[in-house]
Amino acid sequence: MNNIAIFASGSGSNAQRIIEYFNKNRSISVTRIFCNKKDAYVLSRAEKLGIPTFVFGRNEFYNSNEVLDKLKDDEIDLIVLAGFLWLVPANILSEFSNRIINIHPALLPKYGGKSMYGMRVHEAVISAGEKESGISIHYVNEKYDEGEIIFQKKCIVEKDETPESLSAKIHQLEYEHFPKTIEKLIIKVSLSS
Ligand code: GAR
Repeated sequence: MNNIAIFASGSGSNAQRIIEYFNKNRSISVTRIFCNKKDAYVLSRAEKLGIPTFVFGRNEFYNSNEVLDKLKDDEIDLIVLAGFLWLVPANILSEFSNRIINIHPALLPKYGGKSMYGMRVHEAVISAGEKESGISIHYVNEKYDEGEIIFQKKCIVEKDETPESLSAKIHQLEYEHFPKTIEKLIIKVSLSS
């Protein structure tokens, strides 16, 4: 069995699509949702979908091995950040080298970095007058949005595009491509181990 851990901080619509995608798969499953906000909607989604959760605070994440130990107990093969907004600490990065990926709602290296998440990204893309945007799936390192890019897909930014309409377009791209990219990576990870 190949085990995926999803880290999410907010709504968790991507987390839900990933869980549903692998529901029918006998060799890959989402083992647990890790969440840093106790009132995040992703936790309600996880409950409805019957996926265990682990909620942690800043101190457990950055000053202890609690999250790392949970990942090891769950025998996690791949960590997927889906709308998770904190940097991953060194203890987890070194244990899961090249086995942590993130999705970003723009064409990196543009519109990435510390406070670039969710709607803020789409607002920045539109105010800069960009004609296209898209999604980037990349490996995670010690900096925000800077790891090697694995996959990108573009979409058009229309003249009358709003941050809301762009967000909806980008979410559709994410739902279509994130689970498939995860599946390909899991196969690669299990072939190389
Ligand atoms: C997604 O669009 C994801 O790309 C973005 O947050 C959204 C989470 O939506 N991530 C970032 O901006 C990371 N910098 P969701 O909670 O509905 O899956």
